Amino acid sequence: MSRLEVERLSVSFGGVRAVRDLSFSVAEGEILGLIGPNGAGKTTVFNLVTGFVRPASGAIRLDGRPLVGLKPHAVARHGLARTFQIVKPFPRLSVRENVTLAAFLRHPARRDAEAHADAVLERVGLAHRVTVAAGQLTLLDQKRLEVARALATGPRILLLDEPMGGLTPAEVGLASDLVAGIRDGGVTIVLVEHVMKAIMRISDRVLVMNQGEKIAEGPPSRVVEEPAVLAAYFGKRRVA
Ligand SMILES: Nc1ncnc2c1ncn2[C@@H]1O[C@H](COP(=O)(O)OP(=O)(O)O)[C@@H](O)[C@H]1O
Ligand SMILES: [Mg+2]
Repeated sequence: MSRLEVERLSVSFGGVRAVRDLSFSVAEGEILGLIGPNGAGKTTVFNLVTGFVRPASGAIRLDGRPLVGLKPHAVARHGLARTFQIVKPFPRLSVRENVTLAAFLRHPARRDAEAHADAVLERVGLAHRVTVAAGQLTLLDQKRLEVARALATGPRILLLDEPMGGLTPAEVGLASDLVAGIRDGGVTIVLVEHVMKAIMRISDRVLVMNQGEKIAEGPPSRVVEEPAVLAAYFGKRRVA
């Protein structure tokens, strides 16, 4: 069954059609890679699905339940979480406090929220950093914190916006393992990422966007060889 369904979604900003007539679905337990050149509309898709931006038209359903018109906190309560391309922790608060704030969504009592935060921090490999101010973390640990904050809201589906940007190849390996582990723990994932090695390794399926539209969809190894995808990335045109 589809965990997330997006049907004929469109939105424009001024004259720019950031997302055009986009349809896709994500199966329960799947990792869907969402790729495309800069400005393709990937982050806008996340903003639409999470309720930060309202679509001009189209439908979004999480486990069959319509999401369009809901505010971000209501979408989160339904079980959908996201991370941001630019990480957004509270830099002066500790790692544990940052994650506890997110855990309050499902654990109103402070003790429960903190216990849940600690469990999530263990899961992402930050158990040894809980008292450090978020602003003091290395980039890899900031990315882990961003994932922890999203996980602490108890999602059934997690949207990750370039979680590997700026990481070294070794760190990309660790981050890929983390994402695959989260999926194995039962969370469906949509992964926007420019690091192709990671996309190829852990995505079950890839959707390619360009100028707001879907231009290809399928298994990672096949999609990256499609002429439309090569053209979008490298400006090549194949004469049919
Ligand atoms: N809030 C906004 N206001 C105006 N234009 C926007 C806004 N968000 C995105 N855009 C535009 O929409 C297009 C898609 O952007 P984005 O979704 O960020 O692409 P990607 O994440 O694939 O790089 C770009 O042309 C971008 O400038
Ligand atoms: Mg983006």
